[in-house]
Amino acid sequence: MITLLHIDASARGGRSDLHAHGSHTRRLGERFVARWHAVRAADPVFYRDVGQAPPAPVDSAWIHAAFTPESTRLPWMQGRLAESDRLVDELAAADLIVAGVPMYNFGVPAGFKAYIDNIVRVGRTFGFDRARRGEPYWPLLTDRPRTLVLLGSRGDYGYGGRIAAMNHVEPAVRTAFGYIGIRDVRTAAVEYDEFGGECLAASLRKAEAAVDALVDELLAGLPGARIKPPALMA
Ligand SMILES: Cc1cc2nc3c(=O)[nH]c(=O)nc-3n(C[C@H](O)[C@H](O)[C@H](O)COP(=O)(O)O)c2cc1C
Repeated sequence: MITLLHIDASARGGRSDLHAHGSHTRRLGERFVARWHAVRAADPVFYRDVGQAPPAPVDSAWIHAAFTPESTRLPWMQGRLAESDRLVDELAAADLIVAGVPMYNFGVPAGFKAYIDNIVRVGRTFGFDRARRGEPYWPLLTDRPRTLVLLGSRGDYGYGGRIAAMNHVEPAVRTAFGYIGIRDVRTAAVEYDEFGGECLAASLRKAEAAVDALVDELLAGLPGARIKPPALMA
């Protein structure tokens, strides 16, 4: 079984193909999971909507608790870290993370940043020992391979070329997930949301085709893979 963790981070509810003001990243994420499930219906999926229900941002109590050794944590510290623990447990249980992450002001939305801050946890997802020879920080999510599929959307265009230097979404997410041990990152993104019309329509078609190709590629890479994904959505 492959366990999926599906995360949405758009502040917009609903998918753009079903709702007039819906989200493209929600649309891509649901498409990915539906195509995956068409072939592997029994694979479990955890779902997190950090756009509609963001985790509590890191505060002074969280920092105090997280940097207190687990064995000496007081009950209030355990309580403050309970949500972060749940998010880390969920992530650690996943083989495949599918995250729909829009660009807000050149970076990730606040809810997804709060998610990252809650899952990059000393002693849980990365190790730190200032006396360690060589590298004092090391990733802890290394017990098995995990893949992150990062599905983006932006209002402007050219974030892979023309204005790539202004794109702080993919680089920031790759860095944070790589730091904790998730280094296999695949991406697809919609552009031109602010332009609409044929530019946006063409970008959506391209991103959806990229999502389908990603699913097929990942399925084909599974041990013993033989089943071809069906020709699902047009
Ligand atoms: C608060 C906010 C900030 C945004 N900042 C940017 C930006 O910096 N660059 C950009 O190209 N588009 C920006 N956009 C446009 C979104 O990236 C675009 O609408 C995208 O499709 C949103 O993802 P969604 O469709 O999944 O909701 C912004 C949108 C919002 C609401």
